[in-house]
Amino acid sequence: MLKNIVLLCIAVLNAQGTRMSNGYWNGKWFPHAPDDMDSNPAASLRNHLLHDGKHGISMGIVDPACDDAKTNLAIDWFMNPENYTCYENRRLYLPKSTVHPIHSTDHIPPEYSAPHKCMNESIEYGEPIPTFGTHRPLWAIYGEYTFVPIQRWLHNLEHGAVVMLYHPCANKNQVNFLKKMVKSCLYKHVITPYDQLTVERVNSFIKLLSIEIDTFFIPKRP
Ligand SMILES: *[C@@H]1O[C@H](CO)[C@@H](O)[C@H](O)[C@H]1NC(C)=O
Ligand SMILES: *[C@@H]1O[C@H](CO)[C@@H](O)[C@H](O)[C@H]1NC(C)=O
Repeated sequence: MLKNIVLLCIAVLNAQGTRMSNGYWNGKWFPHAPDDMDSNPAASLRNHLLHDGKHGISMGIVDPACDDAKTNLAIDWFMNPENYTCYENRRLYLPKSTVHPIHSTDHIPPEYSAPHKCMNESIEYGEPIPTFGTHRPLWAIYGEYTFVPIQRWLHNLEHGAVVMLYHPCANKNQVNFLKKMVKSCLYKHVITPYDQLTVERVNSFIKLLSIEIDTFFIPKRP
């Protein structure tokens, strides 16, 4: 924007034989006159690409005005170390043999298509581990992270990824065991700590299978 203004000023200063009278400019405009369409094909392509009928905002378009996975990240996460560090008495949760895994499946109607929201709008979820819903246009590169907010990994889920969440205070051996398993057999994985998991079930896997979502809550190893 600033660059355009500077260029416009230079264009105005350099303009020969053009003049401004009664607010009517009959010289050249840069980049285009207010009522003209931007004739730069990249501009119309970008505008066309940023919106689609299905999700509202198209996915996978890196755009600082919407989502470039760099701008306004704090809207999803305040970089609070509590979210990835075990602070609670600085003790890891002990495994409990009486807690068993839970397997649940969410049935999503085939017509459902999750809306995308740019980074200028916050996205809230009604539950600690949503399996589908509104998310960011860009998804996380597959791998292990210090922390990935829901708004990102929910998009990976939509593309068939497995998301492994673990409580920062979960048993380290168990977490490492699960990480190794996920990394060695599934390319499409996102691994992140998440402190909103219950103390009872400190690890969970989420997997989207076509239109069904399977969530496996893995209890602590006996
Ligand atoms: C957020 O930004 C996008 C893209 O620039 C725009 O389409 C949308 O209207 C904006 N939303 C709000 C609430 O300002
Ligand atoms: C980070 O942790 C705080 C404190 O437990 C919690 O209120 C907040 O929702 C967490 N943020 C995320 C993105 O999980």
